[in-house]
Amino acid sequence: MKLNGKVEIVTGSSSGIGKAIALEYAKEGAKVVLADVTSEPREGGAKTEDAIAEIGGTAVSIPTDVSEWSDVDALVSKTVEMFGRLDIIVNNAAICPDLSLLETSQEVWDKTMAVNLRGVFFGCKRAVQQMLTQDVVNEARGRIVIISSQHGMLCAPNNIAYGVSKSGTVYMTRQIAADYAKDYIICNAVAPGKIMTGKSGAAADEGTLDTAKARTPMPRLGVPVDVARAAVYLGSDDSTYMTGVNLMVDGGWMAS
Ligand SMILES: NC(=O)c1ccc[n+]([C@@H]2O[C@H](COP(=O)([O-])OP(=O)(O)OC[C@H]3O[C@@H](n4cnc5c(N)ncnc54)[C@H](O)[C@@H]3O)[C@@H](O)[C@H]2O)c1
Repeated sequence: MKLNGKVEIVTGSSSGIGKAIALEYAKEGAKVVLADVTSEPREGGAKTEDAIAEIGGTAVSIPTDVSEWSDVDALVSKTVEMFGRLDIIVNNAAICPDLSLLETSQEVWDKTMAVNLRGVFFGCKRAVQQMLTQDVVNEARGRIVIISSQHGMLCAPNNIAYGVSKSGTVYMTRQIAADYAKDYIICNAVAPGKIMTGKSGAAADEGTLDTAKARTPMPRLGVPVDVARAAVYLGSDDSTYMTGVNLMVDGGWMAS
């Protein structure tokens, strides 16, 4: 088990990639704290907490809106009260409005930045506050994983607020990695390509899927566990001298 006894928070843990990360972490022996605004998976099926209980893992849910500092503050405090420390936070929660420049209202822009960028900022800030109080174990005081996107690097067609927010998370990864490396806090991102989750709208329409298939050199699109396995690596002691990296899990999209 790569994460035996480690304490992990995953945001946006009820659906898709976040659910897969929570499950893979639990399988690897982590105690997982689930932080989402709902417990219902967007794609249907078992709730994350139940799925983890079924495999004999440890998980607790703390309802959290990542865009609210008071929620994120309480999330980390309660995690430490329950489990004694915080080894890993995976900042995964995001929304995706699928609107072009001209269609994007101030309200949509602000909401997208509040969840996708401010939420990651809050998660990182509160985690670093906690991690700085902890002992160094195997060359790490704590690890931060940010789920970015290929759309932080190339354009998200007609989806400006999402693309800008994701691009900000890639910068944040490098900044935190560089500023806190001396404190043994490790910060990396995973940039998924097209991953089949329960997202509806433009993310699931035929044209989008055809484009994604055409752009992806591998003969299939991604599934949530592809991203989760990369997040396990970045959360584990296997990844110690690696920080500030934006690791692509995209079937070769960005390479082609
Ligand atoms: N699916 C893809 O193709 C893809 C590609 C690149 C990047 N990503 C990134 O991966 C991550 C997960 O994507 P997904 O496809 O699994 O999304 P999803 O919509 O299936 O799941 C997102 C989860 O985040 C939760 N959430 C939304 N707002 C929240 C808030 N304010 N506070 C807490 N939780 C909140 C939702 O309830 C949901 O459970 C996101 O960061 C997304 O940008 C996904």
